[in-house]
Amino acid sequence: MAIVDEVLALREQTLAAIEAAQNSQALEQVRVGVLGKAGTLTAYLRSMGQVAKEERAAVGKTVNEVRSAVEAALAESKARLAAAELEASINAAAVDITQPGRAQQMGTRHLINAISDEISEIFLGLGYTVKTGPEVETDWYNFTALNAPADHPSRSMQDTFYVRDLSGDEAAVRGESDVLLRTQTSGVQVHVMEDEPLPIYMIAPGKVYRRDVADPSHLPQFHQCEGLVVDKNITFGDLKGTLEYFCKAMFGEERKTRFRAHFFPFTEPSAEADVSCGVCGGTGHTHTGERCRMCKGTGWLEILGCGMVDPNVLEMCGIDPEEYSGFAFGVGIERVACLKYNVPDLRMLLEGDMRFLRQF
Ligand code: DAH
Repeated sequence: MAIVDEVLALREQTLAAIEAAQNSQALEQVRVGVLGKAGTLTAYLRSMGQVAKEERAAVGKTVNEVRSAVEAALAESKARLAAAELEASINAAAVDITQPGRAQQMGTRHLINAISDEISEIFLGLGYTVKTGPEVETDWYNFTALNAPADHPSRSMQDTFYVRDLSGDEAAVRGESDVLLRTQTSGVQVHVMEDEPLPIYMIAPGKVYRRDVADPSHLPQFHQCEGLVVDKNITFGDLKGTLEYFCKAMFGEERKTRFRAHFFPFTEPSAEADVSCGVCGGTGHTHTGERCRMCKGTGWLEILGCGMVDPNVLEMCGIDPEEYSGFAFGVGIERVACLKYNVPDLRMLLEGDMRFLRQF
């Protein structure tokens, strides 16, 4: 076959291969195979010297024409494939807006903290300040300055966690330590009366510790919120009005409150406040007539202790009981949480079961 015909055949073959290339990679292979250093068309260009003189002009012209045609076809094909590939990659990476979103797991505040904050909000709204006190206390703040007699049962090793002094102090090693984990937030009353100017309108939420085994109504570590008001002309009426307001704000207008006489060493007179049971609506029984298990059939649930600050306590804290009077209260935060949401067992708050905790 004459060289010119060979080159023209190569042209058809190459254009067909360019046409058939499915992607830029395949196209590049075609280009290298024809126009690369060892390419088929390159070989013709290189061997022009061996072509017979009379054929050389025609062959040269044909080779050049074929090269131009091949280059044009390559350029056109390259542009077309690149555009298609760009579009395909955009489609592949595109966000599918019909897909459901990936849910982020959001944490929530623990119910105990939520209730503690809620109590603070209610009293902040009444103009009280929020105080804190140490969880490791001395006997003075936890008992003595609160008028607790030396032989009060709560001072015994069975009820209070004492902190052993490791310095080798004999009395401390025998367990007669002066340092303890506070059993109540009431000690904050003493700190505040000692440190702050009068009048006092404060609450103090925080952790307390008792040597109790956990059961539905006891925990060895729990939270209380203390309250203290000291001002001129404070009466039991102020106490009742304040705590009734608190109960309605916390539990809702439909829940009733009542006060029962009680005894606390640091208040006189003292009382305990109850809220009507949210499970049986204060009736003491279920709609089928069974005894309500939440309130044990009484219709009432105890939520706090309170009273008028004992004049002895005011005096020990350097306040003249002839000039000032006050009231105090202590609320169990876990109790409030359980009574508000009808949770039958305090331990459920601490089990870490997310199905339970997420509800609040
Ligand atoms: N501290 C008491 C307790 O832990 C609760 C209490 C009762 C606090 C009467 C008070 C109060 O401030 O006036 O049981």
